[in-house]
Amino acid sequence: MCSASYSEEKININSKEVLIPKEEINQRVEELGREISADYHGRELHLVGVLNGAFIFLADLVRQLNIPCQICFLQASSYKDQKVSSGEVTLMHNLDLSGKNVIVVEDIVDTGLTLKHILEDLQQQKPASIEICALLSKNIPDKIPVEVKYIGFEIEDRFVVGYGLDFAEKYREVPHIACLD
Ligand code: IMP
Ligand code: MG
Repeated sequence: MCSASYSEEKININSKEVLIPKEEINQRVEELGREISADYHGRELHLVGVLNGAFIFLADLVRQLNIPCQICFLQASSYKDQKVSSGEVTLMHNLDLSGKNVIVVEDIVDTGLTLKHILEDLQQQKPASIEICALLSKNIPDKIPVEVKYIGFEIEDRFVVGYGLDFAEKYREVPHIACLD
């Protein structure tokens, strides 16, 4: 029965280690919203959400801005199986960011490979400026150097889910960040 197994999974995820409770996420997103609003005051801001993982973070972040903004999305995929990056990044979008002030909004920076590809791709469109805002950044050795101006939380090298982040497309709806390993 579909509903029974779904609630069993819910119980399982709720018993996993909570790394960042939802109250802490809300507070940090509020701070990031204030910081970005101050930095982009008087400029037209374009936010590019990286699907699928950033959809909740972006939705909460824009409601903490006190400046107008425009919102669009691109799709990036790099995982060949559920937890290991394939080393190849595929991007899908039809954005036109020429002359615009852009912030790429990502859920998590792991190796940095995805964001490196996104930046290289979007920079070809010659935006006026481009920065990155990531909810999470993993502390790992040999990270690809990508400058992330706005970081919600630095975390250790664990596999995390919730608040938009998934494992095999599951757990995105969990309201906090939980460790799955
Ligand atoms: P990177 O290219 O190695 O930096 O990986 C970035 C992408 O991998 C993110 O956009 C996520 O979609 C995914 N990812 C990396 N670490 C995790 C994790 O711990 N949980 C869920 N997704 C992750
Ligand atoms: Mg992602």
